[in-house]
Amino acid sequence: MWAEVSLSALTHNLRAIRKYVNPPEEKRNTPRKILSIVKGNGYGHGGPEVAKALEKAGSDWFGVTCTDEGIAIRKAGVKNPVLILTSFVPGEESRLVEHDLTAVIHRCEQLALLQQAAGRRSKKRVPFHLKIDTGMNRLGIASADVECFARQLAKSNRLELTGIFSHFASSEVFTDTAVGQQTREQEERFYAALERLRTLGIDPGIVHLANSAAIATRPETWADMVRPGAILYGYHPGYDPMEKREEAEARLLVKPVMSLRSRLISLRSVPAGAGVGYNATFVPKRASRIGVLAAGYGDGIHRSLGNRGSVLLRGKLVPIVGIISMDVTMIDVTDVDDAEIGDIATIYGTDGVRQHPANLVARSVGTVTSDLLCAVSQRVPRVYIR
Ligand SMILES: Cc1ncc(COP(=O)(O)O)c(C=O)c1O
Repeated sequence: MWAEVSLSALTHNLRAIRKYVNPPEEKRNTPRKILSIVKGNGYGHGGPEVAKALEKAGSDWFGVTCTDEGIAIRKAGVKNPVLILTSFVPGEESRLVEHDLTAVIHRCEQLALLQQAAGRRSKKRVPFHLKIDTGMNRLGIASADVECFARQLAKSNRLELTGIFSHFASSEVFTDTAVGQQTREQEERFYAALERLRTLGIDPGIVHLANSAAIATRPETWADMVRPGAILYGYHPGYDPMEKREEAEARLLVKPVMSLRSRLISLRSVPAGAGVGYNATFVPKRASRIGVLAAGYGDGIHRSLGNRGSVLLRGKLVPIVGIISMDVTMIDVTDVDDAEIGDIATIYGTDGVRQHPANLVARSVGTVTSDLLCAVSQRVPRVYIR
C-alpha cells in the first residue's frame, strides 16, 4: 500500500484558508496568520514533508503535539515557530528550548520549570503560549486562575508570553442545544480571561482560537491567527446539522490531499455458499471472484470497514468482503470483468476520475476523517506528487 500525497492540493488548501480568513473588506493592518496543524505525523500525511511544503507556501506557524514531533520538523529544516500543543512533561523542557520550540503552558506550575530551562539553555527570553480552559475541561488554566498565572509570570524573568489560546469542544455543532451554545460560551470565557490579563498589565501576544469548523463557519472566532487541521488536508468536519457542510464547502473549497492505494495480489473463484476470510463472515450467494489487496488494518485500513466498506477499482466501487486482516483485505470483484492481478485499488481519495472521499468512508463506520488519515501506519510509504 502507498499513500499518494498531493502537495498541490495541500498548498491550494493553505492559500484558500489564508484568503478566506483575510477578507479584503476587513482592512486589517497585518494579515491574519495561519498555524498549520501538522501533529499526528501531519494527520498521517508525513509531518516533516507536509510542514516543509506548507512553510514554502507561506504557513506562519506550525502546531505539533509533543517535543519529538517538533524536533522532527525542525530536523526537516522548518524555521518558522512551532507550538507544542500538548505541552511538555517535566524533564522535557530543556530539549524544547534547545530546539527553539514554543512551549504551551496549561498549568501555572509549569512556568517555574520552563524558567529554569530558559536559564540553562538560552541567552534570549524564551517564548511560550498560554492555554486557557474555557469549558472543554481538558487542558488549560481556568479563567479564574489568571491571577495566579500573572503572579508566577512576574517571577519568570527569562520567559516571554507571546500568545494565548483556547480550543473549541464543538464548533461544528449548530443545533439548538446546550452543545450548540458551547462555542459562544467558550468565546465569552476566553475574552473575559484575556481582559483580566490585560487589566493586570500583561500583553497576551497572538490571540488564537479557531479550528477547522470555526474557521469555515464562525468568522467571529478568527482573532489574530487560525489553526486549521482537517481542512488543510481537504476535509470539512462533520457539521451538525449535516446540511451545514454544503454551505461550508461552498464558502471554503478545499481539496482532499491523500489517496490511499493498494494492489490486487490474488484473484480466485469462490463458489456460492463458501465462507471467505476469518470466521467466514462473508458467504457469497452467487459464484464470485474474490480479489485480495496487499494491505490490511496494519497499514491503516480501518478494521470496521470489513463487510461494510468499498474501494475504487477500474472506476467502479467494489465491496470489501469478510473481516479485514492485518496485512490483506478481500474485495468482491465479480462485477468487474476485466479485473487483473496488479490492478490498483483506491481505498479512499481519487483514482483520477472518480472520488471516494475519506469523510464519507469515515462516516460509514461512525468515525471522523482524521481518525482514518492518522491511522495510515509507518510501513506505508508516502509518495509526494505536485
Ligand atoms: C489545539 C488544536 N488546535 C487546532 C486543531 C485542529 O483541529 P481541526 O482538525 O478540527 O481543524 C487541533 C486538533 O485537534 C488542536 O488540538
